[in-house]
Amino acid sequence: MKKRILSGMRPTGKLHIGHILGALKNWVRLQDEYQCYYMVADLHALTSEYEDTNKMQENICEMVIDWLACGIDPAKSTILVQSRIPEHSELHLILSMITPVSWLERCPTYKEQMHEIKGKDLSTYGFLGYPVLQAADITMYKAEVVPIGEDQLPHLELTREIVRRFDQFFGNILPEPQALLTDVPRLLGTDGRKMSKSYNNAICIADGEGEIKRKIMAMVTDPQRLRPTDVGQPDICSVFSYHKIFSPSQLAEIKEKCQGGQRGCVECKKILLENILKFLGPIQEKRKVFEKDVPYLEKILQEGTAKAQELARVTMDEVKKAVRLK
Ligand code: TRP
Ligand code: SF4
Repeated sequence: MKKRILSGMRPTGKLHIGHILGALKNWVRLQDEYQCYYMVADLHALTSEYEDTNKMQENICEMVIDWLACGIDPAKSTILVQSRIPEHSELHLILSMITPVSWLERCPTYKEQMHEIKGKDLSTYGFLGYPVLQAADITMYKAEVVPIGEDQLPHLELTREIVRRFDQFFGNILPEPQALLTDVPRLLGTDGRKMSKSYNNAICIADGEGEIKRKIMAMVTDPQRLRPTDVGQPDICSVFSYHKIFSPSQLAEIKEKCQGGQRGCVECKKILLENILKFLGPIQEKRKVFEKDVPYLEKILQEGTAKAQELARVTMDEVKKAVRLK
């Protein structure tokens, strides 16, 4: 029997190359080895995007198209929409009964986002409970393994703590999940800041050639290099950090030409552009096919969600009996 995996992503807009390298590549790889459940975390999106939900359905579609285009295969993996399975909300509520508020308040992601994200009122009950909802997602499917980025580790640790507390009160129903950390090359945005949709510094999967070119040509290089013949320092150049990922076979040459003042930054960026277009080409081709087939998309979501709900019902039944709500 293959082990079960659950992971999720919030539908907050178009996905970018950071998502491919950080999560999707890994999700695709895991499909053969595990029973994979990949979840559209729309309720999680609602915890911070509740002020403007106009694009929610569009974002869900776009994100799932990106997943499929990157190689998530509905014949192998179950794709589900969190809010369509009310058991998620139910389990979240039950787990919230035993979760001390202090655990949530000291969660580093909570403290960070409260400080960092300006212009949004995150002082809500729902946002504080974000990790409890995530614990419900994971335990609902009794996932043993959770592939996540490092930023999500505190949430997984909280899940494990909540599971242990549930166990103390109600018995051993929910398994403690393990994190599957992916060592991801940290790719910064094209402006050198953290890659983020809100900074508009990320190359999106759905970007056209012109847009990608504009973003690459605007990238910051070695600031001390003014002329193509100046000696460059690739190690402090953000274009070079992209080359490390997208131009592996040319890396030595790129470095040499930069350090020897033999190639200008514009030329160097053109090579990167070409390689990124080559990398995204097949993904974008597939994207176009799925984009046109909304009924197929809906079918996948319906089937995946129905399959997931069967499991969710079993778990909820066990949980309710254990808690004596049944
Ligand atoms: N919080 C996760 C993120 O922002 C998304 C998520 C929701 C998730 N539920 C999950 C990830 C369950 C793993 C398991 O990336
Ligand atoms: Fe960066 Fe390339 Fe310019 Fe060197 S030549 S500074 S690696 S863009």
